[in-house]
Amino acid sequence: MRFRVRPVRRLSGHVTVPGDKSVSHRAALLGAIAEGATEIHGYLEAEDCLRTIGAMQALGADVTRKGPGHYRIVGAGLRGLTEPGDLLDCGNSGTATRLLMGLLAGQPFCTFLTGDQSLRRRPMGRVAEPLRLMGATIVGRADGTRLPLVVRGCVTLRAIEYATPVASAQVKSAILLAGLYADGPVTVTEPAPSRDHSELILAAFGARLTRAGRSVTLQPGPLTGTTVRVPGDISSAAFLLVAAAIVADARVTVEGVGVNPTRTGVLDVLEAMGARVGRRSDAAAGEPIAALTLGTSALRGARVGGALIPRLIDEIPALAVAAAVAAGATEIGDAAELRVKESDRIAVIARELGTLGARIEERPDGMVVHGGARLRGARVQSGGDHRMAMSLAVAGLVAEGETLVEDVACVATSFPEFAATVNALAGTEAITVEP
Ligand code: S3P
Repeated sequence: MRFRVRPVRRLSGHVTVPGDKSVSHRAALLGAIAEGATEIHGYLEAEDCLRTIGAMQALGADVTRKGPGHYRIVGAGLRGLTEPGDLLDCGNSGTATRLLMGLLAGQPFCTFLTGDQSLRRRPMGRVAEPLRLMGATIVGRADGTRLPLVVRGCVTLRAIEYATPVASAQVKSAILLAGLYADGPVTVTEPAPSRDHSELILAAFGARLTRAGRSVTLQPGPLTGTTVRVPGDISSAAFLLVAAAIVADARVTVEGVGVNPTRTGVLDVLEAMGARVGRRSDAAAGEPIAALTLGTSALRGARVGGALIPRLIDEIPALAVAAAVAAGATEIGDAAELRVKESDRIAVIARELGTLGARIEERPDGMVVHGGARLRGARVQSGGDHRMAMSLAVAGLVAEGETLVEDVACVATSFPEFAATVNALAGTEAITVEP
């Protein structure tokens, strides 16, 4: 499947984006191990999160789809899951895999996990290692660090205090989920704050946790089912906001976007680059939400690094497009994690945006984007990475001539409505999806 992208001069209107991927995964996992019923509204019905629903059903949770994005899960309780009859295929989803590993560490049975070609290349040792310290047995390829993996959990895990070497919400969340089954409080300390959706949603399900600086401590114990309203995904909104900033005549509002401060680094960088982001806060319980408005902006380069990186790690491909057309250079550092995402995003950004005429120097932990490029339409490859596919399509909106983005079926993992949403804002078929 590919996108045929034509340049546009105008983007205008109000749109919504589908539910937040991180929050959706967590809502399904916790609903399945809570006592009683959980109602989830706004669940992201894209491949990654549907894998998590499928996994929880395979583990014995009672899940009913009541309408678009509306799920009711009758939880099995902490001790009620059962051994699945087949392996669990997490598809393209690192979050599904790593969070499930944490949950499975507390189950007294064997579960086999696998995923697609991209996921089988991604590092799982960072999660396996603390879970082994807690008492779980995890074996698999590459010395137990790559899928396929088998998790054989225990009824009671050892409580640990763990300092994670990477600021990863997936590692933190896996340990916290396992901590529900521990024999005492579990503490995770991060080198920099990562997204805190697990902390917020665990508290909403009645878990007892305390936070101090870069540490979080969870007391083991049961969860109670609740109602979860999933906000719109700022990572999906980012493509539309960057498009609005760079298209000649644009003003776009994305409604109902989750603006948890651990996720809003993309807004801070767009503002540092010279864009004005209008935020109208909406009433919200748990995760804060807002309508975000952005229009055509004279962008300039910025420096992106340090503690900002975990707050925008998934938005760097989109920001690289903004940087390519901005005045001056943008330096992105401390972002070596980009190399172990759905693709090696540093290499793919440099190569594919380079094909469109951007001037990008690759660095081991980031890149320097020399701005001011006049992008020219060309044939580019997503590398099977949804965020690369959408970023390249956004670049195509301001390139001269047509851009063909190959290998875009992956967009269905997070934002199936992407092309239709851009076309609605453009008022024309800017992006055609071709088989
Ligand atoms: C996620 C955490 C981040 C992010 C991913 C989703 C999560 O990964 O890149 O898309 O939901 O916890 P890391 O935890 O590996 O940084």
